[in-house]
Amino acid sequence: MTSYKIAILDGDGIGPEIMAEAIKILSLVAERNDINFELMPAPFGATAYFSHGHSFPEETKAICDEADAILKGPIGLSHEESKKIPVDMQPERGALLPLRRRYNTFANFRPVFLPKGLAHFSPLKPEIIGEGIDFIIIRELVGGLYFGKKETGINEDGKRFVNETLEYDEDQIKRIAKVAFNTAQKRKKVLHNIHKSNVLKSSVLWNEVIGEVAEDYPDVEVKHILVDAAATYLCLNPGQFDVMVMENMFGDILSDQGGGILGSLGLMPSACIGPKKAYYEPSHGSAPDIAGQSIANPYSMIGSVAMMLEMSFDMEDEAKKVWYAMQSVFAQGYSTPDLSKPGADVNMISTDGFGDLVATELAKQ
Ligand code: IPM
Ligand code: MG
Repeated sequence: MTSYKIAILDGDGIGPEIMAEAIKILSLVAERNDINFELMPAPFGATAYFSHGHSFPEETKAICDEADAILKGPIGLSHEESKKIPVDMQPERGALLPLRRRYNTFANFRPVFLPKGLAHFSPLKPEIIGEGIDFIIIRELVGGLYFGKKETGINEDGKRFVNETLEYDEDQIKRIAKVAFNTAQKRKKVLHNIHKSNVLKSSVLWNEVIGEVAEDYPDVEVKHILVDAAATYLCLNPGQFDVMVMENMFGDILSDQGGGILGSLGLMPSACIGPKKAYYEPSHGSAPDIAGQSIANPYSMIGSVAMMLEMSFDMEDEAKKVWYAMQSVFAQGYSTPDLSKPGADVNMISTDGFGDLVATELAKQ
């Protein structure tokens, strides 16, 4: 029997609730494919800081090192609660960025997908949504401003200052460019390169390398768009996009805008792929304000499972079925309170109610 080890990092806030639904789906997939998923839970995030004194404890590192893939829930606390943790131990700086660095997960795939039938989730008008929203953001995840040199102090004039650098070398750009071109080749063969070369030197080098890599992909059309313009087009005409590639910080911002045009970040799963290891996570935060109420939709967490099945375990068909099962639960008129307002014409169910229905749909296929 095939066996895979999966590190399970629940994270904070709604993390444990939505992870439980992801595990429900994983168990069903295991059973019907005669696979053994060995789940290895490990503490991570603010919860781990309070229980283990570190937001990315050594034991969690060891478990992740051993795993074939990592499934991670959202992390973080409310602004006020965060202050109880020293700045460098806060789960974003103390756990998430070190996780990305440890496994060099440079390629972050963030699908932005809403079928036409679910257009009511989106704040955009139906005529703008047209046949639905379907593109993917490929975000460079271990370079740029996030990981560049940082300095704070007092300058010669006695003023507090900060210096943060946006760093890339050509190899870092080349490897994410290749991922983007390969993805575009499998889809509509159009790649939108997002940059800010009218101001940033980093974008000048970025665009140069994109141009060089493009020579190996003559069948892919490259369109260059300034990041600020791209933000506008995402609202006015998202249908023009299919694959978008961009540096780390631009990707952080535009992918949240992607969630915005879908109607919720709760509809945004993601995959973070490195040379040897990958981890999968919702693109959103831990939503502490709605934690523990069973009202968060587990779509982003179950979608991350689907991405893991496809990208880490070569189970593309099964992944498609998981996506399909989730869409059909929505299409039958079910929703959770985080996605739909009371009075909306939906049958409101809980987090685990949604997971149960997805499992039922999946079992039918
Ligand atoms: C994301 C998140 C993270 C990021 C935070 C939690 C550090 O916003 O994955 O988009 O900025 O990358
Ligand atoms: Mg973000």
